[in-house]
Amino acid sequence: MARLLLRDFDIRKAYLDGHAQAQLVDMLRPILKSAPLFRPTTASGKEMSVRMTSAGSLGWVSDKAGYRYQDLHPKGMSWPAIPDPILDIWRDLASSERDPDCCLINYYGEGTRMGLHQDKDEADFSWPVLSVSLGDDALFRIGNTTRGGKTESIWLNSGDVVIMGGPARLAYHGIDRIRFSSSRLLPKGGRINLTLRVAR
Ligand code: SIN
Ligand code: MN
Repeated sequence: MARLLLRDFDIRKAYLDGHAQAQLVDMLRPILKSAPLFRPTTASGKEMSVRMTSAGSLGWVSDKAGYRYQDLHPKGMSWPAIPDPILDIWRDLASSERDPDCCLINYYGEGTRMGLHQDKDEADFSWPVLSVSLGDDALFRIGNTTRGGKTESIWLNSGDVVIMGGPARLAYHGIDRIRFSSSRLLPKGGRINLTLRVAR
């Protein structure tokens, strides 16, 4: 496992081996069944290209009313619990004192992207955000804590974990594109990104 620091983003290359990645995908299947992926719209009404759902006591949603955490899926069901192997990653790399209350599950299909943004819907920015990459390679772009300025990019591969804490916690970041079908982890291709957060 190699550790890379890029603008205070703490990147653990190949933190999860192939077996651990496959185990996580298996655990996500029942979650996606009981809390199906949905396509959110931004506050301005534009459809996002990724589809998402959540596990945990809170889930992140976005629609015309804005970005927020809420305790129910848009279809009305509770979010499923975060599986222990996912919490173990947080406990190992982020904090053994408090577990995250949200695991956002983003699915990137062919041609999807995520624009540069800050994660700032949480109550306390002293908790890091931890992200886990599964499936196809993704070009991750890192910016500054204010909009604009120079950015840097790095390819994230399946099994990589990124910890955004300290000065990186409020830095702009996004996914420019994925290399569809570059991984065989997900039978239909694409990429899953898990983001663990203490939201409240
Ligand atoms: C995000 O910032 O919400 C997702 C980042 C990623 O997909 O790696
Ligand atoms: Mn983000």
